Amino acid sequence: MRRRDFLVGAAGLLGAAATPLRAFANVPTPFSFDMKPPMAPGDKAKFIAWGVKERGEDPKFLGERFDRYLAMVRNEDLVDDRNKIAFLCTPREKFVLKQNLARAYDHAFLDIGYGVTISGPHIVGRMTSAINPQKGEKVLEIGTGSGYQSAYLSHLTDKVSTIEIIKPLAARTRGIYDDLIKDGYSEFKAISSKNADGYYGWQENGPFDKIIVTCGIDHVPPPLLQQLKDGGIMVIPVGPPGAQRVLKVVKTKNADGTITVTRSDIYHGRIVPFVPFTKLEGDSIKGTHNN
Ligand SMILES: C[S@@+](CC[C@H](N)C(=O)[O-])C[C@H]1O[C@@H](n2cnc3c(N)ncnc32)[C@H](O)[C@@H]1O
Repeated sequence: MRRRDFLVGAAGLLGAAATPLRAFANVPTPFSFDMKPPMAPGDKAKFIAWGVKERGEDPKFLGERFDRYLAMVRNEDLVDDRNKIAFLCTPREKFVLKQNLARAYDHAFLDIGYGVTISGPHIVGRMTSAINPQKGEKVLEIGTGSGYQSAYLSHLTDKVSTIEIIKPLAARTRGIYDDLIKDGYSEFKAISSKNADGYYGWQENGPFDKIIVTCGIDHVPPPLLQQLKDGGIMVIPVGPPGAQRVLKVVKTKNADGTITVTRSDIYHGRIVPFVPFTKLEGDSIKGTHNN
């Protein structure tokens, strides 16, 4: 019996309805940045036992998460320990639609409604590794979608901002975070979210150390580059519709005050299709920001 069920049962037994029950979360140990789940290649059983005990999670999903983790490490989508731990601590099953639960840890993007998708775990791992957020850094995500990417980021830094253009999706995902926070996933308190057109960034929350864009566009939006700190890194799918290359963009300030922007391809030329970077006109989404 889970703690909360037990308490409700006990209240019934004691007839203590007049005394408000203390709300216990279902996550026994709150996340901390020094959390160290078992993560050696042979640690699957230990990881599952850890996740059940410390995070109150389902052993089935923990096992699938560990298998996907091993595949991502082999594929070099996860390279350093902090990113590996962030992946292992993020319950992807909480961010997929019920009908896709059996596929939560597939090497695939999945439908999340509203014509958009949750990106596949390998892409999320590789893009996050490319910006490698450090604790305390400000990170902006464009394209909240399911909420999974920002949930993952909240295990790397305590300052995450995320923007979603589809109003009901932004509200649904905010509700998922709030429910999970009540459940004990205190790390998601680090996530500020809003419904807006992410092309213009989030001036009041910036400037940002890192920016991650999860929808495809044919150029780097100037407002995002402007809101990136000197020395900051952005990862963004750039290219024609459905045929983007995922670029790592580094902004550097030179001694003479000029700015240099360097670009490299995190997939070494491979085409990776993303959902389009759409445009808000008034209250309606109309077309894209492509030139
Ligand atoms: C690949 S999907 C979602 C991936 C998401 N990061 C996740 O973890 O589920 C990309 C998202 O970008 C959103 N999007 C597209 N254009 C946008 C814009 N101009 N501003 C903000 N979000 C946008 C889409 O509505 C969609 O939810």
